[in-house]
Amino acid sequence: MERLQKVIAQSGYTSRRKAEELIVQGKVQVNGVTVTELGTKVSGDDTITIDGKALEKEDKVYLLFYKPASCITSMKDEHGRTTVADYFVDVKQRVYPVGRLDYDTTGALIMTNDGQFANLMMHPSSHLEKIYEVSVDGILLSTTIKQLEKGIYLEGVKTLPCEIKIVGKDKKHETTMLLIKLVEGKNRQVKKMFESVGHPVKRLHRIKIGCLDLKGLTPGSYRRIKTHEVHKLYAMANEKKNRKL
Ligand code: URA
Repeated sequence: MERLQKVIAQSGYTSRRKAEELIVQGKVQVNGVTVTELGTKVSGDDTITIDGKALEKEDKVYLLFYKPASCITSMKDEHGRTTVADYFVDVKQRVYPVGRLDYDTTGALIMTNDGQFANLMMHPSSHLEKIYEVSVDGILLSTTIKQLEKGIYLEGVKTLPCEIKIVGKDKKHETTMLLIKLVEGKNRQVKKMFESVGHPVKRLHRIKIGCLDLKGLTPGSYRRIKTHEVHKLYAMANEKKNRKL
């Protein structure tokens, strides 16, 4: 069940704010009954009518985007910066990012208009694996790596176990290149983890989400996620969920 204004907005009919106005103005009906209350919940089986016309159910779309740097993971920006939405003006459906990558972080980002799918992928219990390529300041000691892998406290909460693999050390520039696999996605988690052990992140790039990697994509481009891949992501998220219970 989802909020009526969200369902209208996700159908591509209008923005969520305009949808709220239409509801308050008494222009929206659910199964023939006028609804003016804003938090009303509806399901996929309900028929929604606006100004007497049935709202068309939008096809679900799932896209894998190679987010470039200097781009904000938001649908609009009051400071006029490039947003992820700028890359999807040709997509008929209103697609939203699943989670977020920082302004300067590059790499894999799922975009979709399927709210249920997005919620499942982002839910902490789904433990969907994400792999990042990271360059950090300084040469990491193996004791620090072990400490990070076991979990460290960030703002009083322990991070879940993760895996780190060193892929290169640049002694001249005092930089370590590594891969980190996380099964959670707290806000700015990778940067906070390395900052907290004295190795600020210089570059961050997400190479994989679940079964999806960036093969064939260039910065700023995207591809459709195939149906079997969507099924696989559902299976991966549910499998982790069940294992935890
Ligand atoms: N962790 C971060 O710190 N930043 C990102 O963009 C993604 C994960």
